[in-house]
Amino acid sequence: MIKEKILNILNKQINEELFSSYLYLSMSNFFSSQNLDGFAKWMRMQSQEEYGHGMKIYDYILQRDGKVVLIKIETPKAVWKSPLEVFQETLKHEQHISACVNNIVNLAIQEKDHATTQFFQWFVGEQVEEEANAINIVEKMKMIGDNKSGIFMLDRELGRRQ
Ligand SMILES: [Fe+2]
Ligand SMILES: [Fe+2]
Repeated sequence: MIKEKILNILNKQINEELFSSYLYLSMSNFFSSQNLDGFAKWMRMQSQEEYGHGMKIYDYILQRDGKVVLIKIETPKAVWKSPLEVFQETLKHEQHISACVNNIVNLAIQEKDHATTQFFQWFVGEQVEEEANAINIVEKMKMIGDNKSGIFMLDRELGRRQ
């Protein structure tokens, strides 16, 4: 049986991942309103990925014969100053999620829950990728600055995400 402490932190992480999904959907909505359809598509796919992360933990709790508890998802921010600010916030948010994942692994090790320690290794690796992707886009946006054709090209590039 999974320990209560672990179960609580995992349920909290489902909420974190679903909030991430909601936040990125809100960013996608913002980009659509700015006619940046490529950015909007990228964020919409990111939103779906986060939903998948939440469900991965959801299924893991069920597998461990634990009880999934769904709580309220906060309202995400809806307006940003610029596309750069959106991706800077994405990076900050991913750094927050990485800290959450580290806390889970730390607790799992402390509680000698080897199954959870191993299960969360996937998330540890995923967070390295997520942060790297966000850093990459932030750096490109900084290079482009206010250059409209640069933004247009990056929008096209991100819109190719499958
Ligand atoms: Fe995630
Ligand atoms: Fe993420």
